[in-house]
Amino acid sequence: MDDIEKNLAAMACEVLTTSDGREKAALARRHAATWRAARAAEQPMQVGTAAPPLRPARPAKPDLLDPRDVPRRRPGSPQGRIAILHAVAHIELNAVDLHWDIIARFGHVPMPMGFYDDWVKSADEEAKHFNLICDCLEANGSHYGALPAHAGMWRAAEDTAEDLMGRLAVVPMVLEARGLDVTPGMIDIFRKAGDAQTVAALEVIYAEEVHHVAYGSKWFHFLCGREDRDPVEVFHALVRRYFHGPLKPPFNEEKRAEAGLPPDFYWPLADEAART
Ligand SMILES: [Fe+2]
Ligand SMILES: [Fe+2]
Repeated sequence: MDDIEKNLAAMACEVLTTSDGREKAALARRHAATWRAARAAEQPMQVGTAAPPLRPARPAKPDLLDPRDVPRRRPGSPQGRIAILHAVAHIELNAVDLHWDIIARFGHVPMPMGFYDDWVKSADEEAKHFNLICDCLEANGSHYGALPAHAGMWRAAEDTAEDLMGRLAVVPMVLEARGLDVTPGMIDIFRKAGDAQTVAALEVIYAEEVHHVAYGSKWFHFLCGREDRDPVEVFHALVRRYFHGPLKPPFNEEKRAEAGLPPDFYWPLADEAART
């Protein structure tokens, strides 16, 4: 079947069931281009519904370990920088799947076409990020799969598999927002090490991730508005229910604001976590 004859949910499932990282990224980019072309030509491509796997396919390597068992290395050493890059590659690969999963899993919830445009664009960017970071790993004599990685990365997706607002609250508005907090520090580490390729890759990621958080906030507010509910209250309730870690400062308040995430969303949860 030509890509153009498939619906978007079916294309999302193809990405989710591809195990090799580079192949998954290539397919994600190809399907994103097909969707964009169909939208530009105003040929209706159906969103459709699908039965995505509970967990996406993963390559045989890296070994997935409990985060407590993932060895820590000093960030100032070359091995430490490779460990950071490896962790980022793993996050980006999961992010590719997370964005396709939201498309495939919630096809039964009627949403405007812009919702799909935003997540297809995000998935395409995550695939680019994965490739960029893999290139950096390879330039540093390593590769994705060379080290163990965090096993818990898909937990947020499983926990929110039946709750679109919960998914938006936890994935883009908590996890991806956390990326905005930590990326500038990471860029500094690689700048000090003179690794210009990684600095450039992380700067692309930093610029594009703001939009992913913004799409989360936009569609979260849309759903709250449709149900006439208070976004701040709903957000707090959903994060308490589905997110198991603490929200920890320091926060990148400027980038969070740019992404439509004001302080009254996250500070009360951070204060709550600090008291317990
Ligand atoms: Fe990313
Ligand atoms: Fe992202």
